[in-house]
Amino acid sequence: MSSSSEEELIHMFKGIPFTTRSSLELLNSLDAFDAREDDVLLVSYPKSGTHWLARVLTSLFSAQVTLTSPIEFGDISRLEELNQLSSKRLIPTHLDYNMLPTNFKNKKCKMIYISRNPKDTAVSMFHYYRDNPNLPTIDSWTAFFDLFLKGDVVCGSWFDHFLSWEEHANDKNILFLFYEDMKKDLPKIVKKISLFLSLNVSENDIQDICKKSSFSAMKSDTEKENSDPHNTVCALTSNKKLIFRKGAVGDWKNHFTPKQNRRFEETFNEKMKLSKMAKSLIYEF
Ligand code: A3P
Repeated sequence: MSSSSEEELIHMFKGIPFTTRSSLELLNSLDAFDAREDDVLLVSYPKSGTHWLARVLTSLFSAQVTLTSPIEFGDISRLEELNQLSSKRLIPTHLDYNMLPTNFKNKKCKMIYISRNPKDTAVSMFHYYRDNPNLPTIDSWTAFFDLFLKGDVVCGSWFDHFLSWEEHANDKNILFLFYEDMKKDLPKIVKKISLFLSLNVSENDIQDICKKSSFSAMKSDTEKENSDPHNTVCALTSNKKLIFRKGAVGDWKNHFTPKQNRRFEETFNEKMKLSKMAKSLIYEF
């Protein structure tokens, strides 16, 4: 990372790098947030399929929900803005479990965590760093790979993020989803989500939702849209055009050297040794 831009773009909060688009005052005040029992949280580490899941969820709810920008995005006025919304709220966040406002936990709000093979997440994040002016400059894939493994990237360590949420995977109000499962059988996952959210959807609705949520449909919709800086699902950018890159499983194979793959697996096995879900995460080793 080049240090001058890093200073302007990144600051630390509780040991985790955040972009300066999340003010420290806001991050410090999150616990004051007034959660509502019917809030639904869309939780992810960056580059795990957040926008994709947001599309599925907004389609499932039809007009009955407002997709807000992430709870950690902006300054302190954010809390009041969210407070003013009279409709049901679908709130995205990249926060790890320990940083999530306690009111969401106390009120047992429904939370959906989407995860993806961290090797593909790393590659996706590398391209995002290169294309996104809100993130520090990265010299090469080699340099980014090291930063990712160390957790020296926005939102911190992928491993810590995942583990903080996995600890709560059996809570009844939390649903875990995997990007690769959505790629394999989206209708099945849409059904699973509708059951979790107690929404009634027909087979036709499901087909329709899957069509609207395809990579090509979402990419072409975004190309037609004008970006609204306040309408953002990811706290790292308002420019949705940066999101739809490849949408594939296994792109890591085009980037990882055999040595990087060995190092990644060593770290993965060490960090995830107590994880029950680790096996669902790594596809195509
Ligand atoms: P790639 O960079 O590998 O293409 P997020 O929304 O969390 O920022 O994640 C972005 C990643 O999800 C990008 O991955 C993007 O292409 C992929 N993605 C977005 N919409 C998708 C869709 N409808 N189907 C499959 N992948 C999608």
